[in-house]
Amino acid sequence: MNLLSASNIAHSFEYELFSNVSLDLYEKESIAIIGVSGSGKSTLLHILSTLLHPQKGDVKILQKDIATLKEKELAKLRREALGLVFQSHYLFKGFSAYENLEVAEILAQKPINTELLQALEIEHCIHQKVTELSGGQQQRVSIARVLTKQPRLIFADEPTGNLDAKTAKDVMELFFSYINEHNAAMILVTHDEGLAHMCDKVYRLHEKELQRIK
Ligand SMILES: Nc1ncnc2c1ncn2[C@@H]1O[C@H](COP(=O)(O)OP(=O)(O)OP(=O)(O)O)[C@@H](O)[C@H]1O
Ligand SMILES: [Mg+2]
Repeated sequence: MNLLSASNIAHSFEYELFSNVSLDLYEKESIAIIGVSGSGKSTLLHILSTLLHPQKGDVKILQKDIATLKEKELAKLRREALGLVFQSHYLFKGFSAYENLEVAEILAQKPINTELLQALEIEHCIHQKVTELSGGQQQRVSIARVLTKQPRLIFADEPTGNLDAKTAKDVMELFFSYINEHNAAMILVTHDEGLAHMCDKVYRLHEKELQRIK
């Protein structure tokens, strides 16, 4: 089943970042997007994940053209189906890591999965305040929070940027088993070509085009 279909996306800020970007994402599939800094990867991920309207082209998620959705429907789609793991974590800073997960638990009405905390190796620090955690621990808490929601689509922008190579690889494996078990899919933006090639497909944003390289 097709979970996301983007066709002929174009976007410019001061200058054109990219045009004619088309991409399909199917159940149980992972796609990586690489490209030099400033090529527009995060912008593209914002468009694909409904946070930014493309200047041209359209994005369908779960077969719905998102440009036609009302604000309420879009909010529901984001809440129920989309999981965003972005460069800034947006954890609630005054709370403990666990309280942050409880927010996801309540909003999504899905229980916190202790196996997930073990897999991410954060069970020992889960009751500390977010501000007391290392950058890599915060990153893993935000991944736990997103997966607690059980989204169909995961959009991840350098989700392992603060992690050592071994932990990064373990986190990637966790994403892959998650998408397999939940008939979900993932789009990953990364600078790490090794991690990118763990995904089913790899694209490079280069010279304003999205080129498939795997
Ligand atoms: N809201 C914005 N307003 C104006 N320009 C923007 C905006 N967001 C991004 N840009 C510009 O668009 C270009 C691409 O930015 P983007 O963040 O998408 O790059 P990136 O490929 O994710 O880079 P990096 O690998 O460093 O994260 C940059 O030149 C940036 O300054
Ligand atoms: Mg970026």
